[in-house]
Amino acid sequence: MSAEENIEESPEQYFIGKKEDVIQAKRVSKFVNGRDILVIYHEGKFYAMDAHCYHAGGQLENGDIEELNNKLCIVCPSHKYKITLAEGEGIYKASNPKEKNPIPRWFSKGIKQRVHTVLEVGGDIFVKMSEVRGWIESDYYQTEKYRQEKAMCPPDNES
Ligand code: FES
Repeated sequence: MSAEENIEESPEQYFIGKKEDVIQAKRVSKFVNGRDILVIYHEGKFYAMDAHCYHAGGQLENGDIEELNNKLCIVCPSHKYKITLAEGEGIYKASNPKEKNPIPRWFSKGIKQRVHTVLEVGGDIFVKMSEVRGWIESDYYQTEKYRQEKAMCPPDNES
């Protein structure tokens, strides 16, 4: 059995698109297995994470990617929260006012955004859903409760 046949038979791996198409698009959002997923192609690597920011559900698709604290991060367009692409870690910069000469440094909030695994098989891109147990803050924006709340609020540009 080939690797491609294995992928097609595996229920937890989902086709995102042809590799060349994803590379060209750089960002692909797709609803798979009940989740809105964002796949990112950046500097030769693929990443996947929940598409809604853990802070307040902002759309990460149009976020800038920056290297911060030696890690590639997506910067949420809504309120500029920084999320590492590989781990889904929330990071922020702050200084301690109690220090004599406060110097801003990076701190971690821990894993806040659920990230998924990207697989390349035979010229196709698949996402294998995260198997990390327990609640990760971005999970809320994948729930039916959130979708219902969102459906009741008109988009900003329609108010
Ligand atoms: S919704 Fe992403 S920073 Fe607020």
